[in-house]
Amino acid sequence: MISLFGNKKIQAFGLDISDASIKVMNLRRREQSLIPDAFADQPLPPKIISNHVIANERRLAESITYAVNKAGKLETKYVVASLPEAKSFVRLLSMAAMSDAEIDGAIPWELEQDIPVPVDQVYLDWEVVAKTGDKLTVLVAATQKDYVDSLVESLKLAHLRPVALELESQAVARCVVGLQEAKETVLILDIASVQTTFIIVEDGVLKYTSSIGVAGNALTESIARSLGISAAEAEKLKKDTGLVLESRRNVRQAILPILDNIIDEIKNVARFHEEHSASRKPISKILLCGGSARLAGVADYVSTRVNLGSGKPLGKVQLGNPWSNLAITKIDKSVPQTPEQALSFTTAIGLALRGVIHGS
Ligand SMILES: Nc1ncnc2c1ncn2[C@@H]1O[C@H](COP(=O)(O)OP(=O)(O)OP(=O)(O)O)[C@@H](O)[C@H]1O
Ligand SMILES: [Mg+2]
Repeated sequence: MISLFGNKKIQAFGLDISDASIKVMNLRRREQSLIPDAFADQPLPPKIISNHVIANERRLAESITYAVNKAGKLETKYVVASLPEAKSFVRLLSMAAMSDAEIDGAIPWELEQDIPVPVDQVYLDWEVVAKTGDKLTVLVAATQKDYVDSLVESLKLAHLRPVALELESQAVARCVVGLQEAKETVLILDIASVQTTFIIVEDGVLKYTSSIGVAGNALTESIARSLGISAAEAEKLKKDTGLVLESRRNVRQAILPILDNIIDEIKNVARFHEEHSASRKPISKILLCGGSARLAGVADYVSTRVNLGSGKPLGKVQLGNPWSNLAITKIDKSVPQTPEQALSFTTAIGLALRGVIHGS
């Protein structure tokens, strides 16, 4: 997979920065296995990053330092950090066969029509993902410069060195696409707190990403509104009850309309993929990850709804297993133990995997 600025061969840890939290994950190589040995999940106070804009670089640096110290045991200053999907664009371009230097020159022209911001306001990276006859398929990732510049400055203030900056979708895909999924067309949903990201990976290659601003926070707000309770109480009820407890039918009823918005978008994304993908391979599996995939009963509900009344079922819906690509022999006590707990750290684990693979 490609990543912006990824170049050095250095062991690094994963740093997942979002509007709501900072997550740290380090993997240590021991013989044939990778051991998750340092970890932190630090909520980010409001107004440091708002709407994917870094409003205060110095305060972000302080929060990063706090999270890194909390993780402990980090023997490196090198990080692989995440870039938010909402500030990024992933595009597949079809081009005539040409040299790397020519591709470098051609991409800005090709992309100009295709992204909603001026091409001189983004940093670009690309990779040739297929070559057929005299045609190339080039995967391009672009992230807005203002975000990247602020992030790099914040990392510098926190005395960290980025070896790679990577789109959340790329990290998530590396984390949950296992050997079996790498032979299929998989739709991954990262259902986080403020956004849900949709990622299509076909035969192990990232093909599409998009995101909507509906996720776990919207579920909590809906419960709080319908039941007339505080956000903190609603958050607790959501986690305790999920969709399964019959006795709390009112919680389920508050959650479902919001979840249905996400499910409608699954159908839109799947339709778009079928109409536009060159391979025309239908989606064979839907993997759910991100903290909100921990909502009890969510996979069963999504499964029923996406396949309801559709002539063409969209395949199996299941929870992703963030530890699946790790060959773990041991997990340090401080790290989330079960695959279900680890769903909140899918992005961080994917970044850490990049850091350890890169460094070996
Ligand atoms: N057991 C659970 N049941 C339901 N929801 C849960 C559970 N555990 C965590 N969540 C929800 O997961 C969400 C956080 O997910 P995650 O950690 O992936 O988000 P984030 O990366 O911090 O946010 P974002 O990427 O949107 O800025 C919150 O809305 C939280 O309520
Ligand atoms: Mg996230």
